[in-house]
Amino acid sequence: MSDTVQLKIDDKTYELPVVKGTEDELAIDITKLRDLTGYVTLDIGYKNTGATKSAITFLDGEVGILKYRGYPIEQLAEKSSFLEVAYLLIYGDLPTADQIGNFQKQINHHTLVHEDMKKFFDGFPSDSHPMGQLTTLVSSLSAFYPDSLKPIQTAQDVNNTIIKLLAKMTTIVSWIYKKSMGHPVIYPQNKYDYVTNFLHMTFGQRTEEVTIDPVIVDAMNVLLILHADHEQNCSTSTVRIVGSSESNLYSSVSAGISALWGPLHGGANQAVIEMLEKIKEDGGDTDKWINKAKDKNDPFRLMGFGHRVYKNFDPRAKIIKKACDDILEKLGIDDEVLNIAKRLEEVALKDPYFIERKLYPNVDFYSGIIYRALGFPTDMFTVLFALGRLPGWIAQWKEMKENKEPIGRPRQIYVGAVDRDYVPIDKR
Ligand code: CMC
Repeated sequence: MSDTVQLKIDDKTYELPVVKGTEDELAIDITKLRDLTGYVTLDIGYKNTGATKSAITFLDGEVGILKYRGYPIEQLAEKSSFLEVAYLLIYGDLPTADQIGNFQKQINHHTLVHEDMKKFFDGFPSDSHPMGQLTTLVSSLSAFYPDSLKPIQTAQDVNNTIIKLLAKMTTIVSWIYKKSMGHPVIYPQNKYDYVTNFLHMTFGQRTEEVTIDPVIVDAMNVLLILHADHEQNCSTSTVRIVGSSESNLYSSVSAGISALWGPLHGGANQAVIEMLEKIKEDGGDTDKWINKAKDKNDPFRLMGFGHRVYKNFDPRAKIIKKACDDILEKLGIDDEVLNIAKRLEEVALKDPYFIERKLYPNVDFYSGIIYRALGFPTDMFTVLFALGRLPGWIAQWKEMKENKEPIGRPRQIYVGAVDRDYVPIDKR
């Protein structure tokens, strides 16, 4: 492989450097392209654009590989805890026993949120979407914890904000759930680990001690690990670009939550269950809905299918499908929508439309069925995705700052009107 490529424009040839990643990924470095040639590149939706060099997550969509900091997702999902994975993503290595103990202790120290934050819930309409509430509450942390706004931040200051955000996110998410149910909020308890504490605040009661089923704790750990990072996707790119203006961590993550909300991204997990329910109510004719998804005059898409990067299979979906079977069996739940999901998958995987376009089930296809089995209402699903993705957003924001990356500012090709003279409105 040569170190440069040549670009020929008219009769001039330019040498552009080639960058090779540790997993042999190749890129043409166009940093100087505009200065050298006067051209910019046009890549709507950034389908071919590497926005950064990152050492956090590697994925190969052609073969279905996903690794966090070099560790295969399959091993992490089977053997580690979500908190270990969060540590790995944020600090670069798996923690020792002392490091994870200390990390948990620091987080436990910050799980309470300012009591005044409860007043937000008085202002939200009772049926407002949990994702809208989450983005507001996370952004408002900058008001309650203004240390994050100090113009000069030491590494310790930045780490304090990271710990506070990780800690308070579980409390905020569980309070959103409790408030949506009209139930009193439950406070965190330091005796629990990260995931159990979250489940305790979500499913616990004030009146009596509730033991959280270990099956549910394990399932939640796996789901959160599978969502923890996914390199430069829509929400993560948003976090990095917002952070590149030196915006604080809370507001950068709040922007990421907004990006995640859309049904083409994290909002797909809610959309999948709504779709499966609709198919069930309609009589369960999967062929009819597959045909609708293929019909270009019909806006319906098979939610939970297709991925910008995975063109073979989504390794997260494989793990989730198995986890879904296990959990439903362990909890003794027989969910008809699971059967519909399996039938849809079976038909789609044999259909030339889906084969030609390399459309496979993605992480969101089965996750909603598990969330439902665990007792979460549908509109909380994307909030759970956000809870899982939080360490990834933090790690990517921190890396962007440590790399001292410049403010994100894409170019464009202008295609609007040229040189028009202002004509005052004729008021006669
Ligand atoms: N159902 C039917 N057709 C589809 C679907 C689908 N779910 N996804 C893509 N296609 C077709 C699309 O119509 C296009 O066909 P044609 O070439 O004939 O015009 C072709 O496949 C390529 O699609 P695209 O929209 O150009 O691909 P993209 O890379 O821009 O979009 C996607 C990727 C995930 C947004 C898209 O596949 C989709 O909308 N899927 C459903 C939503 C979903 O499940 N999103 C969750 C993604 S995974 C969670 C996450 O990390 O965000």
